[in-house]
Amino acid sequence: MRAVCPGTFDPATSGHIDIIERASRIFNEVIVAVSHSPRKKPLFDVETRIDFLRSATSRFSNVSVDSFDGLLVDFCNKNEAKIIIKGLRAISDFENEFMMAQMNSRLEKGIETIFMMASPEYSYLSSSVVKEISGYGGTVTGLVPASVEEKLSGK
Ligand code: PNS
Repeated sequence: MRAVCPGTFDPATSGHIDIIERASRIFNEVIVAVSHSPRKKPLFDVETRIDFLRSATSRFSNVSVDSFDGLLVDFCNKNEAKIIIKGLRAISDFENEFMMAQMNSRLEKGIETIFMMASPEYSYLSSSVVKEISGYGGTVTGLVPASVEEKLSGK
């Protein structure tokens, strides 16, 4: 079965990679779908976000990375995927994720969103906190893949 793991990934964190790796052990194929998300005004352009993810997931043979600019369900349909995988960190994630899962199911019957609990060490990790720490010169070692860490220190 093919699953889509969507997000803005601005930038990918070790928490994202953990979810992608765990999903790759469950599904035959995982497509990481990077949303352009222009309204979120990402720090990194979509090509850079894709490059980060490609280098961090190259060791998983059944994982590929692509981008989309539109509805997630349209991307899923184009790729013949019926499963959306999302990570959940804390209760605070739940409300928004629940809304998106219900909307996506309403937009496209038959698409299921499956949630994976974040591993405890990544429960309080987010792309935003990584950008904030790094922006003030703090270390993000271990919180992001190596390729992201290099680029963040230069921003
Ligand atoms: O990492 P994020 O920013 O929480 O990911 C959110 C994302 C990209 C998965 C979500 O915003 C999304 O699916 N955007 C595409 C537009 C869409 O399909 N919207 C309707 C779903 S409610």
